[in-house]
Amino acid sequence: MAELGFEVIGVDVDPDKVAILQGGHVPFYEPGLDEVLDRNIKAGRLRFSTSIQEAAEFADVHFICVGTPQLAGAQRADMTQVFGSIAALAPYLKPNDLVVGKSTVPVGTAHEISERLNAAAPAGVEVAWNPEFLREGFAVEDTLRPDRLVVGVRSQRAEDILREVYAPLLAINTPFLVTDFPTAELVKVAANSFLATKISFINAMAEVCEAAGADVTQLAEAIGYDPRIGNRFLSAGLGFGGGCLPKDIRAFMARAGELGADEALMFLREVDQINLRRRSHMVDLARKTLSGEFVGKSVTVLGAAFKPNSDDVRDSPSLDVAVAVSNAGAKVKVHDPKALENAARVYPNMHYEQDVMRALEGADLIIHGTEWTQYLELDPVAVAKVVNTRHVIDGRNVLDPQAWRAAGFTYRALGRPTA
Ligand code: UGA
Repeated sequence: MAELGFEVIGVDVDPDKVAILQGGHVPFYEPGLDEVLDRNIKAGRLRFSTSIQEAAEFADVHFICVGTPQLAGAQRADMTQVFGSIAALAPYLKPNDLVVGKSTVPVGTAHEISERLNAAAPAGVEVAWNPEFLREGFAVEDTLRPDRLVVGVRSQRAEDILREVYAPLLAINTPFLVTDFPTAELVKVAANSFLATKISFINAMAEVCEAAGADVTQLAEAIGYDPRIGNRFLSAGLGFGGGCLPKDIRAFMARAGELGADEALMFLREVDQINLRRRSHMVDLARKTLSGEFVGKSVTVLGAAFKPNSDDVRDSPSLDVAVAVSNAGAKVKVHDPKALENAARVYPNMHYEQDVMRALEGADLIIHGTEWTQYLELDPVAVAKVVNTRHVIDGRNVLDPQAWRAAGFTYRALGRPTA
């Protein structure tokens, strides 16, 4: 918003995060975000605070961007942060302020927030729902050049305010869709469900390819040329993780169940199952590669983040596999260019290695779990000299099988024949 020219205050309840941001740094890894942050702080358009009162009194438009993680022990979303921030904001809102929800929420939330603000905030305060579609690793680009903007509103006034807010993006012809509340809320979870389904579809094909001795990467390329299918999001491998797709499809199923529409989303249970099966299948393949025994073997896992260009380890397939292999008795070393600190916070007892060649030293098996460019650039001949036994399993189907085999490795991958 500051980059678009507005004056902005960012509020968080965590004083440490606010201090880091105020100092011009981003408290997580996101390419290009540091520069945008620093530029806008220096220009005087952006500052940070822990005072919700200060922010509420300052602003006319209030974005709610808090997390909606999976509730512990349940499938549905934990809405504590959303309703907590609304309750904290309500007493300081001014008539005619617009509260804009960006969090991924169960359908019906915008209406519920409206009701709560009707009771707790001055008359004239309105709600709008404006789902967020950015990808981690591309957050800056996706924010400043989004595919589309979706706004759920109940009045022309709310629509007009959001058209003003997004004027620079409308000027570059960004599609702008105006809907009611439930449609805007559903667009978000429908989009993530479709993406998750596409990934699980190709991973299901990978399972069949393995059974039939076929190659899923060629299959994906071949079906992807059909523009109705499209070649994006058809990379078979360890499947999807992160703080969004897995919990969003579960929360969507839970909400559909509450609405009596659970049958409609039964297939998402299968999407989730196929996805989780990739991880256990990787562990089985690793065990098989090591002649059935993990104990006494050294395994190097390349990648801890759930995807490259991120330090996010939430529901990371790669880290999950590392933990499972370690629990099964192997000596595991994990490498990642950016995510080791976060990984160590969740699994403090794992062996982490900052230097990739040191991580590979003495390995009986390499598992490639997150497709950082650094791993694609590894020289298999150099790696062959430091490992103990030459086995590699490519969990992302992006390493060059010929180059690794030429260096003496057995190269295995998910959904591809073992030559
Ligand atoms: C996802 C959506 O792509 C965004 O549009 C959405 O805004 C975001 O969730 C959100 O709800 O906030 P993100 O979680 O950053 O974005 O990551 P993706 O790029 O979607 O990747 C998710 C996972 O799928 C990763 O683990 C990735 O490795 C995996 N993936 C992706 C595959 O296994 N195969 C593919 O072909 C593509």
